[in-house]
Amino acid sequence: MSATAGLSPLRVGLAGLGTVGQSVASLLVGDAADGIARRAGRRIELTRVASRTPKPGVDIGGAPFSTDLGSLVGNDVDVVVELIGGDTTARDLVASALGAGQGVVTANKALLAASGDELFALAQRQGAPLGFEASVAGGIPIINVLRAGLAANDIGWIAGIVNGTCNYILTQMAVAGQGFADALADAQRLGYAEADPTFDVEGIDAAQKLAILAALAFDTGIDIDGVHAEGIRSVDSEDIAYADELGFTIRHLGLARVAGGGLEARVHPALVPNDVLLAKVDDVMNAVMVHGSAVGGTLHVGPGAGGMATASAVVADLIEVARGTLPIPKPASRRLPALGIRAVRCPWYLKIPAVDQPGVFAHVAEVLGEHGISIEGVIQRPQDIHPGEAPWVPIVILTDEVAQDVIDDAVKAIEGVEGVTAGVTHFRVVHPDALDMQGDA
Ligand code: HSE
Repeated sequence: MSATAGLSPLRVGLAGLGTVGQSVASLLVGDAADGIARRAGRRIELTRVASRTPKPGVDIGGAPFSTDLGSLVGNDVDVVVELIGGDTTARDLVASALGAGQGVVTANKALLAASGDELFALAQRQGAPLGFEASVAGGIPIINVLRAGLAANDIGWIAGIVNGTCNYILTQMAVAGQGFADALADAQRLGYAEADPTFDVEGIDAAQKLAILAALAFDTGIDIDGVHAEGIRSVDSEDIAYADELGFTIRHLGLARVAGGGLEARVHPALVPNDVLLAKVDDVMNAVMVHGSAVGGTLHVGPGAGGMATASAVVADLIEVARGTLPIPKPASRRLPALGIRAVRCPWYLKIPAVDQPGVFAHVAEVLGEHGISIEGVIQRPQDIHPGEAPWVPIVILTDEVAQDVIDDAVKAIEGVEGVTAGVTHFRVVHPDALDMQGDA
């Protein structure tokens, strides 16, 4: 007799049949279903499916289909899986399901970034489980790590690569010599990118994920407005090559820590020293480093986007619902003020386009000196590698640690130097000590 015989199945209502929805359906109705039932202790049954756009070719195991998302609320559904994305219709669906006492599993970071605190409170009032493992870093169980695995620790800092699309694009630009647009098109074709890929490349998706991670790590409200967000559009293959020459890899990073009673949370491209683990995380892989007071440094790596990787996390939450172990989220007990980017000090990479004539570099160095900025490294080669433009050479400078307002002023002043022909590209550089796994929090 089967180990799951006699127990009633968990009845799932699936909302959304996009990349992730299709993968979840295939896990629940395909060959994986028996193993899932064994691990869950009961069968997990796809009882209803709803999607605003019918997808006739998708195997949903004979479950009734509707274009009415409301058909999943109440009825014969124990848990609603929300995979429609966005933060308006999804919010209404999730709130209605929780209001009806149903459990909810979602992969929707935009929803949690916008309404997570409110939905956590509603879930608690209703005594309904709300799972969101799939909302951050795809297949990496980082929510579980922060909520349970590292619960004994005060978290010192989190640092990671949390957008698979950005990491894929940066890797392809570096190793395959692909242009930004082609690499992005590939990321879309592979099902990594958001429906609107500007959310990926402009850092919004990563900011939403970091806001969720920071809330869990530091017991604070989800504050998306407090996350400083920059994307990767300003990175070009020339920067990637110069960074490599200086011993760095450009990655899109999310960093969060509590400092001086506030929360510092930021996502932006950064030069990561080549010997730091995050520099070796390529393509769609995500990685999150968490530094705990008891455990020290931990690193969690895995595929951060894509249908099956994300479905793995969604179905893991469903298995916990089936076992009765998926927790009701605990609303944060405090709301830390956002420190913003002005509190951050770090070294900088500057690429200054300049005419190739005597005195320009000296003048740039003088401006840096006047701002108290020390130069750690320089590359300047005479070349004309910008066909179709007036000849210019990049002056590439690595600085010592500088406060944000000082670098902002210095960049403005450099752009006013005679012979500097256009805007200064500037990226933050991660100090090797900042991501030291063995270091203090
Ligand atoms: N678009 C997201 C990414 C998918 O590229 O990481 C996972 O949230």
